[in-house]
Amino acid sequence: MDKEKIIELTKEYVYSELHNDGSGHDWYHIVRVTNLAKTIAFEEKADPYICELAALLHDIADEKLNSSEAEGLQKVEHWINSAGVDRITTQHVISIISTMSFKGGNQPKMTTLEGKVVQDADRLDAIGAIGIARTFAYAGSKGELIYDPELKPRETMTKKQYRNGKSTAINHFYEKLLKLKESMNTNYGKQLAEERHQIMERYLQDFFNEWKISDQ
Ligand code: ADP
Ligand code: NI
Repeated sequence: MDKEKIIELTKEYVYSELHNDGSGHDWYHIVRVTNLAKTIAFEEKADPYICELAALLHDIADEKLNSSEAEGLQKVEHWINSAGVDRITTQHVISIISTMSFKGGNQPKMTTLEGKVVQDADRLDAIGAIGIARTFAYAGSKGELIYDPELKPRETMTKKQYRNGKSTAINHFYEKLLKLKESMNTNYGKQLAEERHQIMERYLQDFFNEWKISDQ
């Protein structure tokens, strides 16, 4: 099968798996990450086919959507084999996805340019205006508060230290989102992250200004 056909079939497969998802991994997250990955791949001269395939499949193995990470990876492997993807591409894509879905404390570093590109694309969709929207949607879906002024100034607490093990949407900026800019891999990814980081900084300033006013 040619590359174009494989991409088309992969889009259909991922759509069928994720279009009903409410955990922040909906189909349009995949569309945005795939488009960002293609743009960064072009600027960084990475292989566009590997980047597109890995971006499309990157959340299929997520532990939130499977009973285990290993099961999720098997699902991706099964799909990719049935689509007739060549062995070298398969190995590369699986290694990118397994590194990305690793959620432990010491996340292994991406070793290939294509992996760096796709990871940057996923991180970019977690910050900026869209990242802000996703954070509040996710927090709402978990029954978390927008912000808890009684716990101020503890915005830098990690989730584990937080009351009832729950974070708040605003806390999530401090525990993760504001740190992502520093963890970008590629030069072009860093440039895009800079703009999106500033949007979040401005947003938080406005948020706390309005909160102060509504306190009076
Ligand atoms: P992905 O795997 O696509 O990078 P995650 O599964 O880590 O994303 O999270 C999905 C979305 O929900 C992201 O935008 C992330 O920032 C947001 N999110 C994750 N955990 C929390 C939380 N505790 N509170 C608010 N938002 C969160
Ligand atoms: Ni993702």
